Amino acid sequence: MKVAVIGTGYVGLTTAVSLAMYGHEVVGIDLVEAKIAMLKQGLSPIYEPGLEKALVQVLQQGILTFSTDLKDAKDSEVLFVCVGTPEATDGTADLSYLLASISDIGVLHNNNPMVRTAVIKSTVPVGTGDRVAALLEDGQSLFVVSNPEFLREGNALADALKPSRIVIGANHQAARAVMERLYEGVAAPRVITTRANAELIKYASNAFLATRISFMNELSRLSTVLGTDILTVAQGMGLDSRIGPEFLRAGVGYGGSCFPKDTIALLQLAQEKGVSLSLLDKVREVNRSQPVWFMQQVRKHIPELKDKQIALLGLAFKPDTDDIREAPSLTIIEELKKSGAEIRAYDPIAAPAVQKLHPEVTYFDTPEEACKGAHAALLITEWKECIQLPWSVIHANMAQPALFDGRNAWPMNEVREAGFHYTGVGRS
Ligand code: UDX
Repeated sequence: MKVAVIGTGYVGLTTAVSLAMYGHEVVGIDLVEAKIAMLKQGLSPIYEPGLEKALVQVLQQGILTFSTDLKDAKDSEVLFVCVGTPEATDGTADLSYLLASISDIGVLHNNNPMVRTAVIKSTVPVGTGDRVAALLEDGQSLFVVSNPEFLREGNALADALKPSRIVIGANHQAARAVMERLYEGVAAPRVITTRANAELIKYASNAFLATRISFMNELSRLSTVLGTDILTVAQGMGLDSRIGPEFLRAGVGYGGSCFPKDTIALLQLAQEKGVSLSLLDKVREVNRSQPVWFMQQVRKHIPELKDKQIALLGLAFKPDTDDIREAPSLTIIEELKKSGAEIRAYDPIAAPAVQKLHPEVTYFDTPEEACKGAHAALLITEWKECIQLPWSVIHANMAQPALFDGRNAWPMNEVREAGFHYTGVGRS
């Protein structure tokens, strides 16, 4: 099928590449000329494992092209809208890019009539698809579908090629049939439903995952006091098939672009509708306070942080990404600065982004160097290279061998045996 993808950011680019890999003929559209120029050369503007290699492959096959002009999508039967819906100052989703793209699709369609389906992939408040449909859909030649994505950063291409589920929100049978054809051969359960249900599925999934994390994080505080081990507790809980083992990892809190943004947007939406989602409010509160709680655990062991050298290992909101949006590392840096500590940081790819915000932090090329002379090392992001460390060398080179494991990823028994002080999250 001929497909256009409007917006070549993280979601759009992954969608465009994966659709081409499914065998469709795809054109990626973006207003930003520099970005399109890069993409045409097979360079990915975002860091995402495997994406650039796949991009080069589909470019060479000629099944993915790029353009700054939507006119190049005049033959496209399906047009994906993957533009950003950033958080406005009041927490609501800013839909201006989305509405502009929809209006452009309307113009393109009027100039080049054929049966087309506009697919909203961007995360949008419940009701947006219907709102857009009221502007665009004619029930005969132009349809609007909500088709949310469930991509994890660092795993986006794999998630797009092997989705956990395909959610299609379409109010017309004709549009549902187009989407079935588009995803033919992709092995994943389908949920074929209304646009509004599809939109809520996306928010509810992210809000629920955030809830699981905050539940475990709050429980880890109790676990610390009780002297129990949150990892064993999570393992025991996760074996219940009704609970499942995923997303039970206590740590310094969730970050990223999705959970923080989508939870606040859902709260905002509920408030607008006069419904209280008090549980979700608490989820956010727990997440905000988790890095602060973590720092309290550090202070229990090192009450005076002033002028102490503190190594921060990992700055990105999770491994395999350079994304620092809402990263717990930023709160921890603020806390350390307030205490007058000297910060020595390491992150394989997110360091330059943090450096822009915090030039006063010293950045190192390896975790070992960051730990040299430090009075404590804090694991904030569980990058492989921050977990597998030469412990005896680290021990010999630290001013004080104290480890604070914000991701419960260091080998607790091994490091204790090696003579380190070790504090995890909810472990003893
Ligand atoms: C998430 C959803 O997983 C994805 O389906 C959606 O499309 C976008 O939002 P992402 O933000 O890329 O994806 O990352 P994810 O792997 O879900 O992790 C989010 C945050 O939660 C990270 O900061 C991670 O460290 C944290 N996390 C995750 C935990 O603290 N504990 C866990 O058990 C799992």
